[in-house]
Amino acid sequence: MKKILFIASESVPFIKTGGLADVVGSLPKYFNSKEYEVRVMLPKYACMKEEWKEKMEYSLHFYMDLNWRQQYVGILTMQYEGITFYFVDNEYYFNGPKPYGDVAYDIEKFAFFSKASLSALPLLGYRPDIIHCHDWQTGLVPVYLDNFRYGNEFFRGIKTVFTIHNLKFQGIWDKKTVRDITGLPEYYFAPDKMEAYKDANFLKGGIVYSDRVTTVSNTYAEEIKMPFYGEKLDGLMNARANCLSGIVNGIDYEDFNPETDPHIARNYNLETFRKEKVKNKTALQEELGLEKNPHTMMIGVVSRLTDQKGFDLIDCVMDELCQDAIQIVVLGTGEEQYENMFRHFAWKYPDKVAALIYYSEPMSHKIYASCDAFLMPSLFEPCGLSQLMSLRYGTVPIVRETGGLKDTVEPYNEYEKTGTGFSFMNYNAHEMMASVRYAEQIYYDRKRDWNKIVERGMQKDFSWKNSARLYEKLYESM
Ligand code: ADP
Ligand code: GLC
Repeated sequence: MKKILFIASESVPFIKTGGLADVVGSLPKYFNSKEYEVRVMLPKYACMKEEWKEKMEYSLHFYMDLNWRQQYVGILTMQYEGITFYFVDNEYYFNGPKPYGDVAYDIEKFAFFSKASLSALPLLGYRPDIIHCHDWQTGLVPVYLDNFRYGNEFFRGIKTVFTIHNLKFQGIWDKKTVRDITGLPEYYFAPDKMEAYKDANFLKGGIVYSDRVTTVSNTYAEEIKMPFYGEKLDGLMNARANCLSGIVNGIDYEDFNPETDPHIARNYNLETFRKEKVKNKTALQEELGLEKNPHTMMIGVVSRLTDQKGFDLIDCVMDELCQDAIQIVVLGTGEEQYENMFRHFAWKYPDKVAALIYYSEPMSHKIYASCDAFLMPSLFEPCGLSQLMSLRYGTVPIVRETGGLKDTVEPYNEYEKTGTGFSFMNYNAHEMMASVRYAEQIYYDRKRDWNKIVERGMQKDFSWKNSARLYEKLYESM
């Protein structure tokens, strides 16, 4: 039995700001339980819901040096759907209304989290064979592990995998402060280790010190070797190319299932979607005060509102698009600029545009189920889960051909009658608009073909079944 420990900053159902949480919370359930035992280590944030905090059980506590600081580390444990979750407790670091705040504060928080996670293992009497780290927040885990190995037999031989979910966020701060916070020797702050462009870089540390590096789609694994997507680390990605691979994300096919979803007005499946899916649309039109018309094409967006997601393109052509017979429903929070942009369009086109500027899991399910198409024109997209959720709900994705979007959405070919969505290549607003209009044309004029696109999308399998096998293979190869 191979023991795998995931260390990450978020996981469903406990805490979520984006797709990382979906991956960390669902993937562990899909390993072959006869051969793998996967546990997960997370921070215990004050902002987690009471219902979860109540279920955590105290396991142990100790005091840990973080250079000259001495910090309390509590470990709480919970079994959830067959998986052991550990929660690192420290009320000073993990307070506040959100998991992440300003960088300076987050740098120290996640240095603490990384060291505490490792330090707790001997006391828990749990020695994983492989530690699987996710994103910059856990970048120091492989670095501390390297450091711990010298003095402590327990840590020798533990291997590490590092998964990049988003290269944009790296955890960068000046070297002097990071040295002071982490207490790591000067040796680690050289340019072939944690230093990048004169600063200390957590993500770089994680990548340099891991045995294997993965990212969440094949295309993104290739893209990040190039300057445009490399976020100034493309050199490093090339240097580690022989240890770097892409494994596309899956989604939880039980949580996201139109046949059983409790959040949606009308359940449906591959056989019944033609009749039933539209009832979700009219229910949502009514709920949101949009013009109630089962025939109107409804386009959805569910997203963090950041520049990664391509909203500048939407901004540019929204007035033109709103002349068409479509409705647009947006659910998201994030940068004020984009929140206000969608509020503005909802005010300007009240029967056509709904801007839901908040976070709601049930509402996201309603949108995946109700819309005819789903728009995701990302500037870059390591994998993207929203388009997979859309495919699962028979909602046709319209995407830019980048990262995981390119790998998971097959463009419609009207001659060969193939494809599961619509896509465009360049980061260009009118190219995006042409794709949306092409989709409108098929939706209105060739409903049969449209339904076939829906059907092919619903038939695709983006559960973890396939990708979990690829992670198992990777672990085996180590
Ligand atoms: P990213 O991780 O870059 O944010 P993904 O597409 O991988 O993008 O994952 C986004 C996840 O967050 C999806 O599960 C999506 O449904 C969810 N999500 C984003 N914004 C909201 C929101 N406002 N309300 C509910 N769910 C949201
Ligand atoms: C990141 C990426 C997204 C990916 C998610 C889960 O947040 O932006 O593309 O799907 O991580 O891997």
